[in-house]
Amino acid sequence: MSDTEPNKNAEQKPQRNGSEERVLDQALRPGSWDEYIGQENIKKNLKILLSAAKERGHIPEHILFYGPPGLGKTTLAHIIAKETGSQIKITSGPAIEKVGDLASILTNLSSGDILFIDEIHRLNKTIEEVLYPAMESGVLDIIIGKGPSARTIQLELPPFTLIGATTRIAMISSPLRSRFSGGVYKLEFYNEDEIGKIIERSADILNSEIESSAKKEIAKRSRMTPRTANYLLKRVRDFAQVNKSAIDEKSVAEALTMLGVDSIGLIESDRTLLHTIINKFGGGPVGLNTLAASLSEEEATVEEFHEPYLLQLGLIERTPRGRVATEKAYKHLEIEYPIEKQNKFL
Ligand SMILES: Nc1ncnc2c1ncn2[C@@H]1O[C@H](COP(=O)(O)OP(=O)(O)O)[C@@H](O)[C@H]1O
Ligand SMILES: [Mg+2]
Repeated sequence: MSDTEPNKNAEQKPQRNGSEERVLDQALRPGSWDEYIGQENIKKNLKILLSAAKERGHIPEHILFYGPPGLGKTTLAHIIAKETGSQIKITSGPAIEKVGDLASILTNLSSGDILFIDEIHRLNKTIEEVLYPAMESGVLDIIIGKGPSARTIQLELPPFTLIGATTRIAMISSPLRSRFSGGVYKLEFYNEDEIGKIIERSADILNSEIESSAKKEIAKRSRMTPRTANYLLKRVRDFAQVNKSAIDEKSVAEALTMLGVDSIGLIESDRTLLHTIINKFGGGPVGLNTLAASLSEEEATVEEFHEPYLLQLGLIERTPRGRVATEKAYKHLEIEYPIEKQNKFL
């Protein structure tokens, strides 16, 4: 038992209210290339794109980021804004309901602004069509009047850079995709080393001392995702504080078990998903819609949140006929892998 006083330097604010979480998240968000760990390839490409544009005296071309939630898409948009000294205006696909909403956003931009559209796959077709000429030629076509007397007027827009982000690249139409002339970038899961560095940096900002073995253990369970790593670190820090223990391997294990996060970072709903494929559907294949329905989950949640990590770990496979649980999944859940499956895929 350790009775080390944890977080000796931690701030002594008495109250912990809901907004503390937001303040912390703000503090943990990297504000420069140096602070942004990993995704080296993307960083390299973006730095070239930005300096080339600057040398030519142009604003950067439109950019699209995609990948599972929490990997750093929004953060990249903010860093690009900082690095280019531009203002960033933030909106999202579902927030732009009518053509008028988009028109008002676009006409309110100033020259050189960055317009960040999160969840851009959720823009509807009519709005996408207004966006194309805006992205391509910097103009907004507005239809005035109705019927035979209707006419189109064209407004010139200030030059701007659109940065889109999406968790579902397959839902982006190819005409929209092709208009991201500055590139379409896929964010990858981080490796353990990078997640370790992110945890170290965050612990530093939080003024928390963390043992190296504890850092490794959090990294192993963080779905290779910075947002999850930060979330787990904060929960472990709370746990250690309340229990007056150090942030060591033992408190990490205890805190994360309490949260239902297992040794490879699966949460309860991931395990339920695997159990469902195995027990209800004989290990698969099972279609996404059937699987989602039997889990009472949205298809989007299964596809955007659960599957990328389970695929990455090799616990499930996607086949033309649906999702299949792999031998590794059976092992992880300590269920015997059926003999008849063993040579099936050879
Ligand atoms: N490369 C990175 N280095 C350090 N921290 C990161 C990195 N990427 C993301 N984070 C952390 O994870 C959090 C979630 O990132 P965010 O950009 O909001 O993800 P996304 O927009 O892809 O869902 C950020 O607030 C930041 O603290
Ligand atoms: Mg985001």
